[in-house]
Amino acid sequence: MLEKHFSGEKATLTLDGTTYELPVIIGTEGEKAVDIRALRSTTGYITMDSGFMNTGSCSSAITFLDGEQGILSYRGYGIEDLAESCSFVEVAYLLVHGNLPTPKELGSFSRMLGEFAMLHENMIHFFDGFPPNAAPMAILSSMVNSLSSFYPEMTNNPLENIDLMAARLISKVRTIAAFSYKKSMGHPLVYPRHDLSYCANFLNMMFDSPVRPYEVNDVVVAVLNKLLILHGDHEQNCSTSTVRLVGSARVNLYACISAGISALWGPLHGGANQAVVEMLERIHREGGDYRRCIARAKDPKDPFRLVGFGHRVYKTHDPRSRIIKKACDDVLAALRIDDPLLHIAKEIEEAVLKDEYFVERHLYPNVDFYSGIIYRAIGIPTDMFTVMFALGRLPGWIAHWKEMWDDPNWRIGRPRQIYVGPRRRPFVPLKERTLENV
Ligand code: SDX
Repeated sequence: MLEKHFSGEKATLTLDGTTYELPVIIGTEGEKAVDIRALRSTTGYITMDSGFMNTGSCSSAITFLDGEQGILSYRGYGIEDLAESCSFVEVAYLLVHGNLPTPKELGSFSRMLGEFAMLHENMIHFFDGFPPNAAPMAILSSMVNSLSSFYPEMTNNPLENIDLMAARLISKVRTIAAFSYKKSMGHPLVYPRHDLSYCANFLNMMFDSPVRPYEVNDVVVAVLNKLLILHGDHEQNCSTSTVRLVGSARVNLYACISAGISALWGPLHGGANQAVVEMLERIHREGGDYRRCIARAKDPKDPFRLVGFGHRVYKTHDPRSRIIKKACDDVLAALRIDDPLLHIAKEIEEAVLKDEYFVERHLYPNVDFYSGIIYRAIGIPTDMFTVMFALGRLPGWIAHWKEMWDDPNWRIGRPRQIYVGPRRRPFVPLKERTLENV
């Protein structure tokens, strides 16, 4: 994919008196990169970029985001249009296959999702092996990894089966999430229904019960579709890069997605949506005064971060956060919920956007700041918020795994390092060792 993006321009680099020319790559939307793939072989030098803040790991045709302008698009479609006009299943198809589905393609994809909604009955016994307070993300990661044992044929010749694998995963992960919730409540499992849409089916599996049938609420279904779309993909974020790195060793898709789920679990990444609501609940319990949280976030001696704010790439408003904030207002009004946490969240945002510490560091609300308030409103338990993030991000992970497997120039990912340990030293046999000579 990169070959047609060489601009002809050259970057020059002078090292030890020798000047080298390095090709310049220009992306579809004008991002520029210096191609250093031959740097070490020609100069003996490597680059250092901990956190990969300046390093491109791949070329990709899936998602474009501009952190300065606050722009996000999937396969060339603006996130605002997709969130407003599509279902999550349409966008999942777009991310994995590269184009929005025709009505016929959408029908076929939806039928596959319906066919694959059940779990192998043997898998259901796995839930009983987890302790009652097991973290939902631990359950999800374990169950997804075990799928490769139930569908080995899919892992042997993946690209011929990518459509099946994608549909199987997107459907079964939804069932695993709902079943893990029912198990944590000690309630009977609610099996998927063929007559419900993707999101309605999930909600029904989560909240239907023998004593209180669940009534599908169109407002809730619509906002869940929107939330999952907004989490669909986000270029080379931590969990997607994890899926790619694990996949680069030619690991099967299920194991790679399991690794991505584990990366997303982190409170600095997908775990932030849960941490935001826990922070807001704590502020509410303590009387609603959020100023202490803001003061702690600004204190260089305090490791506390104002979760839900800041982003590695966005240095202006995260476009997703704007859409979610509006959806918050719409859903809570429609459900007639007056959640004090939303008022506190809005007060925090208003204060932060005027505070020099945050302004000069370009810290704005990110995708996680308001999403948990909607999940609360529709009844999702706090410890499942990151599972919801994983449900949305799944098609993006699959799309990146597929794009990498499709790449003829694919290499196993193996970063370099600069060694700063002890110089070579003589070995001391155990019997002669003292504190002075080791
Ligand atoms: C997601 O990559 C993606 O695309 C991720 C994601 C996706 O869709 O996949 O968008 C999803 O993970 C969103 C982020 C969710 N995480 C949080 O909300 C946790 C809180 N945010 C921070 O921890 C932080 O902003 C990060 C981790 C998101 C980004 O960290 P960076 O890019 O490494 O920024 P940094 O740590 O270098 O911070 C730069 C400065 C520092 O201050 P100085 O040392 O310059 O004085 O900003 C400060 C930081 O201390 N800072 C914060 C802060 N975030 C950054 N200070 C207080 N509160 C914060 N939230």
